[in-house]
Amino acid sequence: MESDLKTLLEDARTAAAEVSARPAFEAFKARLVGPNGRLTELMKTLGNLPKEERPAAGRAINEAKTALQAVFDETLGRIEAEETAARLGPPIDPSLPVPGLARGALHPLTLVREEICRIFRRIGFSVVEGPEAETEFFCFDALNTPADHPARDLQDTFYFPESVHFGNVSRRDDERYLLRTHTSSVQIRTMLQQQPPVRIIAPGRCFRRDTVDATHSANFHQVEGLYVDRGVTVRDLKAVLDYFFESLLGKGTKTRFRPHFFPYTEPSFEVDFSAAHLSKVGSKWIEIAGCGMVDPTVFEAVGYDPEVYSGFAFGMGIERIAMTLYGVDDIRFFYQNDRRFLEQFSS
Ligand code: DAH
Repeated sequence: MESDLKTLLEDARTAAAEVSARPAFEAFKARLVGPNGRLTELMKTLGNLPKEERPAAGRAINEAKTALQAVFDETLGRIEAEETAARLGPPIDPSLPVPGLARGALHPLTLVREEICRIFRRIGFSVVEGPEAETEFFCFDALNTPADHPARDLQDTFYFPESVHFGNVSRRDDERYLLRTHTSSVQIRTMLQQQPPVRIIAPGRCFRRDTVDATHSANFHQVEGLYVDRGVTVRDLKAVLDYFFESLLGKGTKTRFRPHFFPYTEPSFEVDFSAAHLSKVGSKWIEIAGCGMVDPTVFEAVGYDPEVYSGFAFGMGIERIAMTLYGVDDIRFFYQNDRRFLEQFSS
């Protein structure tokens, strides 16, 4: 009996290696433990043995059963693993790019900001940044904007409560923090840090208490410009802005200055452009920027001698330019992160 069991187990192990699918596995199992299987047949002979040999033979059969079960488990495990591998297909290389994944694209406001920076860099301007949470000094006082100016009104400006303190932006005890209403604050920060000549542009986010509609957003973007040196005149200002708008919008773009008032420039102008060659713009004049010659009071606030230096400054809205360039008629599209809108700007 014991040698029969031993052969049976050896045969089973050899045969198991050949079994590679479930039907074959079931047949293999049946040949051993089915109603007419080899082990079943052996068990039937147990009764023919002399009484004293039966217990040992019974134990041997039980051991053989356990060993066989291990062979079955192992074989079935292997078949299952092969089935799973077949379902998954060839091995996956996780370092490969995902097929069909769309390439990301820059946001239209980023595209316009970068283009503006490229143009000004070509003519010697460097790009600087300032904090979005500002103090009244940088946003207003140093820019000759008196306490009763409407821009300083609670209705127009987001102020922070007294208890808030920004570690990276120091303030005097009698000042409040606010979300900057324009990028002009960066003019002051730059001039306090360096001596003329100054040629900078400062792109960035600004905030005003505006009711949101197709042309207003409480959160928008500007680019500030500042040029200070000896003997700078309005002609330089006009030449730089002409160069800029022609580079941005193409040959044939015109600009015009209209007299205006800003507290930090004297004289001050509003700038319009027209670009008849652009079908989205046509020959109408579109207001696009504010500018002027830096007011001597501003130079005094930063310790520049207005008798020695003169300069010009300008500021413009990035959204306005992007809307004109791309023919976008609602400012809210820029902030909704709707892929149907954003995908139109991918190249
Ligand atoms: N700060 C102005 C605004 O937000 C724009 C501006 C006008 C900036 C004249 C300037 C400037 O630098 O000289 O509307």
